[in-house]
Amino acid sequence: MKKYFVIGDPIDHSLSPKLHNYWLKENNIQAIYDKKKINKDEIKNIIKDVKDEKIHGLNVTVPFKNLVLPFLDQLTPKAIMTQSVNTIFKEADEVIGDNTDIGGFDLSLKYFSEDLKNKKIFILGAGGVTSSIILALKNSGVSKIFLSNRTKEKAENLKKIHKDLEIIEWGRITDFDIIINTTSLGLKEEDEIKLDLSKLNSNKLFYDVIYNPDKTKFLEKAEKLGNRILNGKMMFIYQAQLSFKIWHDVLPEVNDKVIKILN
Ligand code: ATR
Repeated sequence: MKKYFVIGDPIDHSLSPKLHNYWLKENNIQAIYDKKKINKDEIKNIIKDVKDEKIHGLNVTVPFKNLVLPFLDQLTPKAIMTQSVNTIFKEADEVIGDNTDIGGFDLSLKYFSEDLKNKKIFILGAGGVTSSIILALKNSGVSKIFLSNRTKEKAENLKKIHKDLEIIEWGRITDFDIIINTTSLGLKEEDEIKLDLSKLNSNKLFYDVIYNPDKTKFLEKAEKLGNRILNGKMMFIYQAQLSFKIWHDVLPEVNDKVIKILN
């Protein structure tokens, strides 16, 4: 039976096995999908398992989306542009890294009919998924992207690629229409993003890439202040749909039942 894994650390929160195993069953595909917590030193071996066809595909999550790159034989153009890989597969004896986060984020905005044209965006974080979000935003015609990250150097590295980014000190706030949390802050119960939201007008959109918990403190606070909120659930579902297509050549259906099983 073919085997697929999502690798990351932490990994307990991941709903990828639930979603992929549901779609595998729905589409009568004989395969199994599981999650695996790994450390940095294990990346090489697990990618070798893909080469040896002991494993048939991998999803990659926090904090390995950039770290897997040196171990792959090939990258798709999207993976090269973002230097971020969330989907790994083997083709013609080569282990290839691809990126379905760009498509996942883009499809989630379309699902919610969010028009980003001429909007000012404030991104928090400069981790593995951030470059995918920047790319998707640029394709949607936003007017300005501000970015803030605890480690300023990582924000500056992104600015080297996207020269029109404006960097904001971590903890400071700027004027925006949409704020997107791309950090892993919020995965743990005690996590909090310390930003003073009190002087902002309400009715902004707060988007958190995190989908489990379904309402992070960041979103909870924003909602209480009268803002609209979206979590990362639809982005998660659509990136998974695109990975599934790569591995099985079937585009599984995104419908209410799929959305419900992840609750
Ligand atoms: P991945 O690459 O898989 O997305 P990552 O590179 O570890 O994972 O990215 C995590 C993001 O969350 C980074 O922007 C990280 O900020 P740093 O670059 O300063 O590490 C951010 N992050 C994680 N824990 C944080 C914390 N306690 N406070 C502020 N930012 C945090």
